[in-house]
Amino acid sequence: MDMDVWKIEREGYEPENTADNGNRFLIGNGSIGVRGTLEEYKKDRMVAVNLAGIYDRAPNQTWREPINAPNGFYATLEGQGNILKHKQSLYFRHGIHSRETVYEQAVLKIERFCSMAEPHILCQRIHVELTGKPAKPMKLICGIDSDVWDINGPHLTDFEATAGEILHVSALTSEMRIPITVKERCNRGQDEILVSGDSVFRVFNVRENFVIERIIAVNGELTPGSYDEKLAEHSAFWDNLWDSSAVKITGDPVAQLSLNYSLYHLHSIAPRHAESRSIPARGLSGQTYKGAVFWDAEIFLMPFFTMTEPSLARKFMMYRIDSISGALSKAAGLGYNGAYFPWESQDGGTEGCTNFNVVDVFTDRPVRTYFRDGQIHISGDIVYALGKYIDWTGDTGILDKGGRDLIKACADFYLSRAHRLVKNDTLEFLDVVGPDEYHERVHNNAFTNRIAAYTLGRAGYDFDVRQPRIRDGIIEQFDGYFDLEDVSLDVIRSRIKHPKEYWGTQNGVAYATQIIKQADVLALMQLFANEYSDEEVRRNWEYYEPRTEHGSSLSACMYALGACRFGRADLAYPLFMKSARSDLDGGGKSWAGNIYIGGTHPAAAGGAYMIATQGFAGLRYNGDELVLNPTLPESIDSLDFPFIFRGKRAYARVSRERSEIRMG
Ligand code: BGC
Repeated sequence: MDMDVWKIEREGYEPENTADNGNRFLIGNGSIGVRGTLEEYKKDRMVAVNLAGIYDRAPNQTWREPINAPNGFYATLEGQGNILKHKQSLYFRHGIHSRETVYEQAVLKIERFCSMAEPHILCQRIHVELTGKPAKPMKLICGIDSDVWDINGPHLTDFEATAGEILHVSALTSEMRIPITVKERCNRGQDEILVSGDSVFRVFNVRENFVIERIIAVNGELTPGSYDEKLAEHSAFWDNLWDSSAVKITGDPVAQLSLNYSLYHLHSIAPRHAESRSIPARGLSGQTYKGAVFWDAEIFLMPFFTMTEPSLARKFMMYRIDSISGALSKAAGLGYNGAYFPWESQDGGTEGCTNFNVVDVFTDRPVRTYFRDGQIHISGDIVYALGKYIDWTGDTGILDKGGRDLIKACADFYLSRAHRLVKNDTLEFLDVVGPDEYHERVHNNAFTNRIAAYTLGRAGYDFDVRQPRIRDGIIEQFDGYFDLEDVSLDVIRSRIKHPKEYWGTQNGVAYATQIIKQADVLALMQLFANEYSDEEVRRNWEYYEPRTEHGSSLSACMYALGACRFGRADLAYPLFMKSARSDLDGGGKSWAGNIYIGGTHPAAAGGAYMIATQGFAGLRYNGDELVLNPTLPESIDSLDFPFIFRGKRAYARVSRERSEIRMG
């Protein structure tokens, strides 16, 4: 039987896998993300109805994080007996989550989705089928559970819970008193209403097989239409998205499923409903990473949206343009000119990154980190993405909408942050943090210097920026990197004293060594691909890869793209699978010191798309024309994908026999 490349399924009731399944079975519509937890789960199992773009700082807490709304999908059976069998599945072609649990006395089937057609609407259908003869009547309890999971909360106060024909819970966020409302209607009258604290539930006595359909509105009004009508609109929306974005792979169904699944995640967290919004590093999978937008959006997600839905890519850019005030005040606060974008950007471009972003597991004390002060590459990453977006789409109009000012402000920031060498009038950047976060406060990180030079160039400034040493064709990641202890990853691992210890900062196990967290020089070589020969990429890959922990899910795709450059699809393929399957396989790094950082990995999903289209198919715009330069892995016979270039629909087809781009 052919494998279903649009569906995942897991058998067995496994509360111990709550964290991974919550990510694996996530559903979302760009406005709301609902973790793939079971309906009967409460906050101790990390249930989250995560809202995009609404942040709160709870009293006495140091950082803001996005809000989890009261859970309107809550449902549980009573009197059903023990679990005999259980299956959870996700039909990700249409973003539909299902569970089927066989109890001694009944089979419970629940289907749910976050409507793509109506971004504030959630839909659920519950089906109970009696199989035994319960001693007492069975009860189905479903409603709005307000006892929500928060990492750094509680964020909601002033609850009001009421029940008439509709269930209604309202609350205010604690800091800015933003109203949050959840309303629910059900197509069948209940036997009883249960109000418990701030939560409100319907209770049904189950005496025969029955089905109920529930429509839930979060921060908006309930809309007419049945479950089936809403499902039809929602599914049609998804089919349209796939028509314009799916990459068809022949020969390798596992690769096909994994890539489909990655693109599913990207689509389900894309802010289609908002004017200027971007995607947080953990998507809509909860509050980890403070719901903040990092460089992940510009460097790892923009390529997918620029190629398949440029109007959305534009929104990402508008988010930065509209939130430039945060970047201007960050720069001014540190004594610089121009725009220094937040490393962890929240609403209005406020900086979410604290000066103490890691807690030491040995002392339980916060450690001073320099991501906020030192990852100055972020401003250049944004300019780079804007430049690429304009080059690809031809949308120069965005320059008049604030794009030009953004580029200039970022260039002004770099000029004021640079040191000028008197002897040859070049600029240097001291005390920075490159993409490899394990080495903080370094000088002249090659990636940072190049992206700063790009920014200055794009603003029309004429300055030389110093590039670091090159030894035997290997670019030194930063000044003095080659002088650090050169040890293997195995040796580093043998030095670890605590499973959750953080490898970076001055006392970290990697700090005095050449072991790096993630692609840094290789990221540079990918972003500025036409400045390096295939042979140079190969040499640097062979040097840096064994020294890379791949401690960030952003790393694998840069190495995969590098390997495709020098014709080694066999090296790229496992890195492709790692990127594409990051949330499917789960088990990624979930702790930085004592802070939970688990959640979904959109950047890895975006990376998988880049590997398929830019790596395996080798699609690139060389300034004059689109070219294909394929490096197909053995298991893949062909790749077919649509994209939009300069407002026109195009299709690329790559196989071992021939490659072509068709316009129109
Ligand atoms: C990585 C950063 C990344 C962030 C969010 C960190 O672990 O080192 O490069 O932006 O996670 O994904």
